[in-house]
Amino acid sequence: MRNKVSIVGSGNVGATAAHWMAAKELADIVLIDIIDGVPQGKGLDLLEAMPIEKRDSYVLGTQDYADTANSDIVVITAGVPRKPGMSRDDLLNINHKIMSDVVSKVVKYSPNCILIVVSNPLDARVIGMAGVLDSARFRAFIALELKVSVENVTAFVLGGHGDTMVPLPRYSTVAGIPITELMDAATIERLVQRTRDGGAEIVKYLKTGSAFYAPSAAVTEMVEAILKDKKKILPCAAYLEGEYGIKGLFVGVPVKLGAKGIEQIIEIKLTPGEKAALEKSAGAVKELIAVIGV
Ligand code: NAI
Ligand code: 2OP
Repeated sequence: MRNKVSIVGSGNVGATAAHWMAAKELADIVLIDIIDGVPQGKGLDLLEAMPIEKRDSYVLGTQDYADTANSDIVVITAGVPRKPGMSRDDLLNINHKIMSDVVSKVVKYSPNCILIVVSNPLDARVIGMAGVLDSARFRAFIALELKVSVENVTAFVLGGHGDTMVPLPRYSTVAGIPITELMDAATIERLVQRTRDGGAEIVKYLKTGSAFYAPSAAVTEMVEAILKDKKKILPCAAYLEGEYGIKGLFVGVPVKLGAKGIEQIIEIKLTPGEKAALEKSAGAVKELIAVIGV
């Protein structure tokens, strides 16, 4: 039987994620949106590309949640993206309302699905996508700086998806060599800061929206890890129950992603400075939750 992935929100991130997933033939895909015609048009357009790409993914665009029934994974990208000058947290109240509405409809038809939340701010829900994106940005900047293949670069960015995110240079490597052996502290700090500002850098260029190629590629990597039961270690926002000394919050940490979703939270040793940065980031997530009162 084929896997089924539904994507709520057929805007830039949602439609581009559908594109990556269909191109990899990961699943049959249902695209949904509140704007009439957008998911139908984009879905049909993508379906018509499949003979050229030699992929048998069936793509359906719809506004009816009944079509999402029995999805293995539902990715939520519905919402409003950032505009210049707006922080991710400014989106809190708008997207929280959208999210409550969407999640209740999704769960009605796919009670057993794994939910991956992309809509910002995401650090308060099921499995949140951000760490894979933030780490990909850090990896891209390291590869550019050292003029090496992106394939050689691994990196970890933990914490929330905001200004308090915690890139971990000690655990970021080029062909297994920690970047702390390859670059001086000032260069690393410059790349860390560019990573923290990575979302804002793109918003500044686009003016009317936010990044979507790297975000949709990041969520596709998570979907692939789950559907193929890859047991892949990736940084994701996960509900912590005492790990890293944090309780009752969704915070970005390394997790093992497999068929069951988050199968393990990996606890890595942190220096006192890294631990303090993670706690500060968790504190920022806590403040967001206080604002929406959940
Ligand atoms: P977009 O504006 O291109 O698309 C959002 C889509 O959601 C629109 O088509 C809109 O009609 C739809 N929508 C709004 N309310 C809805 C509802 N109730 N039900 C169904 N669909 C609804 O925005 P884009 O660029 O795709 O971004 C989507 C979200 O993802 C934003 O909140 C953005 O901040 C977030 N994001 C998060 C990232 C992360 O790392 N976690 C990275 C990139 C974006
Ligand atoms: C980003 O980091 C807007 O959260 C989105 O690009």
